[in-house]
Amino acid sequence: MKKQQIGFELTVFETPQELSQIEQKLLSRAEVAREDAYAPYSSFKVGAAVLLKNGETVIGNNQENASYPSGLCAERVAVFQAGAKYPGVAIQAVAISATSKDYVVDMPAAPCGNCRQSLIEYEQRQKSPITILLRGEVGPVYKCNALADILPLAFSSSFLSDS
Ligand code: THU
Repeated sequence: MKKQQIGFELTVFETPQELSQIEQKLLSRAEVAREDAYAPYSSFKVGAAVLLKNGETVIGNNQENASYPSGLCAERVAVFQAGAKYPGVAIQAVAISATSKDYVVDMPAAPCGNCRQSLIEYEQRQKSPITILLRGEVGPVYKCNALADILPLAFSSSFLSDS
């Protein structure tokens, strides 16, 4: 029997001003995108901004539906749009910003499990890590260095065949 610890490095910035200019700009894009979310059921608006290696930024926000499971999270709206618009272009970073009508979101909201699974496939395909920046409406920014860090033991296409 063998036990292993799996951990990851999380960088905590007290304010967005501590981020690089590029990261600050990306987070601002996510904040702006957040305001256009369609979230009448949860009142929880999320914005995501995807920075591509060709310098382009693609945004997304959560799109809810009266049939709740038919809605989609901000991260997947953004990353699928990036994949559709710029196929094959690698992703450098994703910024995610969340706010609520009911309370002040003062801690970073982490992407849900489905979004992590969707995002990690892009990371696996491009064979380079995607930086993740997270922030609520106010408060600290969390920076994660890779999807693989926040989705350990991930499922991937490698399990679908033995080659
Ligand atoms: N939501 C996101 O957009 N991203 C996440 O990673 C977590 C949750 C959305 C889905 C739903 O519209 C609302 O937040 C409440 O769950």
